Amino acid sequence: MKIAVLTSGGDSAGMNAVVRGVVRIGIVKGCETWVVREGYEGLVRGNEENVQQPPYDNIPASKDVTIADPGFLKTLRFGDGTLLRDGTFDHHYGRSLKGRYIIRVGWDDVRGYLPQGGTLIGTARSKAFRTHEGRLKAAFNMIKEGIDALVVCGGDGSLTGADVFRSEWPGLVAELHASGKITEAQATQHGHLKIVGLVGSIDNDMSMTDLTIGAPTALHRICEAIDSINSTAASHKRAFVLEVMGRHCGWLALMAGVAGGADFIFIPERPPEAGRWQEKMCEAISRHRSVGKRKTIVIIAEGAHDSSLAPIKADDVKEVLSETLGLDTRVTTLGHTQRGGRPCYYDRVLPTLQAVEAVDALLEANPDTPSYMIGISENKITRVPLMEAVELTRNVAKAISEKDFAKAMSLRDPEFAE
Ligand code: F6P
Repeated sequence: MKIAVLTSGGDSAGMNAVVRGVVRIGIVKGCETWVVREGYEGLVRGNEENVQQPPYDNIPASKDVTIADPGFLKTLRFGDGTLLRDGTFDHHYGRSLKGRYIIRVGWDDVRGYLPQGGTLIGTARSKAFRTHEGRLKAAFNMIKEGIDALVVCGGDGSLTGADVFRSEWPGLVAELHASGKITEAQATQHGHLKIVGLVGSIDNDMSMTDLTIGAPTALHRICEAIDSINSTAASHKRAFVLEVMGRHCGWLALMAGVAGGADFIFIPERPPEAGRWQEKMCEAISRHRSVGKRKTIVIIAEGAHDSSLAPIKADDVKEVLSETLGLDTRVTTLGHTQRGGRPCYYDRVLPTLQAVEAVDALLEANPDTPSYMIGISENKITRVPLMEAVELTRNVAKAISEKDFAKAMSLRDPEFAE
């Protein structure tokens, strides 16, 4: 089996561990392994015919090459002993790597991946892959390299894209064959595409899995920020409103609130009553202040809103705290500091274990098995039908948009009772 792995959508800590895990376990299980740079965009672009290939022959296999490329420092080494440097330009040897997106990789190529943040093979939100034309090109580029299995690490949009690609695959192959772009033999050999999804998202916003790759690191980052803010807040007896990521899911805000001892938390799934949250929040904070608390921390998810679905913004909260309680209040938006940086231990262990399951799922896949998403449930790595998980996730968002918050909560957790 020839497996390619790609990362798609917003990056998250642990994506490199996914790539490393898939490549290494793939090799252990006798597969040929490839990476696709820049997510689905790289699949659509493929490898240009007339592009200059890297100089595999004149680089000593045992020597790691340091590249003075501030944008993308990376050394990839082929399993067969030849070297290939990823990135857009190889300053050492003065050769461009432009036009090469689907790259054969070996064991050493992913050395040093575990502790790296972001995704070293790049990610993108590809518009081209959303079109039939783009997916046709992607299918052609994969078949050209002989790839028959794909691991996608991304959020629900990226995983849906993977499933659409798989269900369209026989039609795409027939179209490529009919237009003479692939041979009869290629069409027969690539009749079925094997796909598996791993969830990379800092928001922990996917149903049917307890945790998504990158969420623990983001939470850790927020906790560190709260610790830093606590000391300055207490010094000045100030209030801080901390905005954290999470467009549709309040997991980061809720957990950060618990882990950081916040006074009040706003999450999209449990919206406070429109017109009354101001009073409720002030009541709680006054109580805390009256027993001697010198600082106030309010955490707000970026997608927070009230029960009428009117957005609640950090500045709205600041205004209430300043005007009603007279607190000297500051707003801190953590932004992308939550997404970047080194993965914590769990964002190295979880993707590695899930990569093992992903490769097994691909090896066992046949045209009748669904595309699987690899999750974790009650501390066990799981394999669940990808589209079931995506649909459940969408139903939660739908319930919220219909103001049925109890339904949203019970979809997230069936044991939840209002
Ligand atoms: O989905 C992950 C996420 O981090 C969201 O929490 C946030 O709203 C979004 O990505 C930010 O995306 P971008 O990096 O494109 O601004």
